[in-house]
Amino acid sequence: MANEKKKFFSHDTLETNIGWMIIASILVVSFAGLVQIVPLFFQHSTTQPTEGVKPYEALQLVGRDLYIREGCVGCHSQQIRMLQSEVQRYGPYSLAGEFVYDYPFLWGSKRTGPDLARVGGRYSDEWHRVHLRNPRDLVKESNMPAYPWLAQNTVEGADVQARMRALRVLGVPYTDEQIETAPAQLKGKTEEDAMVAYLQSLGVAGREAAAKAVAEGSR
Ligand code: HEC
Repeated sequence: MANEKKKFFSHDTLETNIGWMIIASILVVSFAGLVQIVPLFFQHSTTQPTEGVKPYEALQLVGRDLYIREGCVGCHSQQIRMLQSEVQRYGPYSLAGEFVYDYPFLWGSKRTGPDLARVGGRYSDEWHRVHLRNPRDLVKESNMPAYPWLAQNTVEGADVQARMRALRVLGVPYTDEQIETAPAQLKGKTEEDAMVAYLQSLGVAGREAAAKAVAEGSR
């Protein structure tokens, strides 16, 4: 080896020169990243809504913004993975197409509390109200904070129309009529009403299609 003539750019060059090693690693990782990520922008299953999935209604949309404001995503994920245990506990695993109207998506990565991707319809509205005001009234050992102010604040006059217009720019197909009638939907509603409406919408519309995908074992 020692008296062999060194080729320009042999493996030795790479392995003994940290600069080249870093450049080569960056090239390899970037290329692999592109190969994995770029097709997702064009794949039907990741860019088109799952059957039944519609844009959030005005009240649900306001609830979603409150979910972000209150930091619920810090303790709750919204993404059921393809593992058997998850499907048994939370329901059919999440499909990419169920999130096409989520700007930003709220998949989360922390599960201090349960996943909420399919919590819609699991409990009554009244259950959610009691739970949000004081989780310990329903689950004694819960460490979820109480959110009593949601019931006291109103959402009337929220800038929901501006938000819907902004989402439309991003590709959410709100109609003029939906935007026009949005403030009327918020009339007399509290933040708690909005939060409950949002929670009850989670994972419901795409559930059937997702159940089918689980049964067929495809994504
Ligand atoms: C500090 C962590 C934490 C935060 C923040 C938090 N939660 Fe929870 N959440 C939990 C825990 C733990 C549970 C399980 C015990 C219970 O039901 O209270 C739970 C349960 C729930 C459940 C019932 C889920 C089920 O399938 O039984 C819902 C719905 C819920 N949280 C909604 C919210 C909302 C909405 C917010 C924000 C306003 C929020 N959580 C903020 C920890 C948290």
